[in-house]
Amino acid sequence: MKLRTLHGTSAILIAAFACLHVANHLAALAGVSSHIAFMEVARKSYRQPIVEFPLLLCVAFQVASGLWFVIRGWKQRQGGVAWLQAISGALLAFFLLVHVGAVLYGRTVLNLDTNFYFAAAGFHVPPNKFFFGPYYFLAVLALFTHLGCAAYWHLQASPPRTRVVAIALPMLVGGAVSLLIVLSLAGKLRPVEVPAKYKATYARQEG
Ligand code: HEM
Repeated sequence: MKLRTLHGTSAILIAAFACLHVANHLAALAGVSSHIAFMEVARKSYRQPIVEFPLLLCVAFQVASGLWFVIRGWKQRQGGVAWLQAISGALLAFFLLVHVGAVLYGRTVLNLDTNFYFAAAGFHVPPNKFFFGPYYFLAVLALFTHLGCAAYWHLQASPPRTRVVAIALPMLVGGAVSLLIVLSLAGKLRPVEVPAKYKATYARQEG
């Protein structure tokens, strides 16, 4: 099987998880308790070894194969969509490496429940919000953009306008979803009180 086909196949599992995951973060718009209640149910599916192990393997494969495509095609890449796909893919690869590494570290080494507060803590210990704002915003936007670019290439037989909408619409939705998630993590939509043990992970690094 071609590497590109494998990249697309592994993307299906990651995208399915990402839909559930992004919905989980949107649940925080109704309050942190809604986010946590949603997560408790969702974890019953993705925290099963039979799901989690293949998911993490797919993430590792996606990052490695994606970076390989970005580097291999660097000189021949032509056109805005090809570059948008490469840039959003490279951003996602960087994000997934840091993000999944941080979540696994938080769970296993720091022994924290990696819930809403784990993601929000960075926004509530200055000056980390200047990193976490763009980091989460661009990650979700890059995810939607990258999927939109894939749809564009699959719609080769469609009129140009349909193909442009296939990218523009996910980007608009992704930008709005991303903004809402970041604002809720930052406590700008509802007050958020992050427990001290989550904030302490940043204090340790500062000290
Ligand atoms: C604002 C955006 C995001 C935030 C705040 C966030 C936060 C989190 C948190 C708190 C966890 C731990 C979940 C748990 O303990 O059950 C997690 C896990 C994870 N996230 Fe995200 N995430 C975001 C976006 C994404 C995106 C866009 C992707 C993929 C494209 C992604 C992929 C993952 C993966 C693969 C895991 C590990 C799942 C596991 O094995 O437990 N995340 N994320």
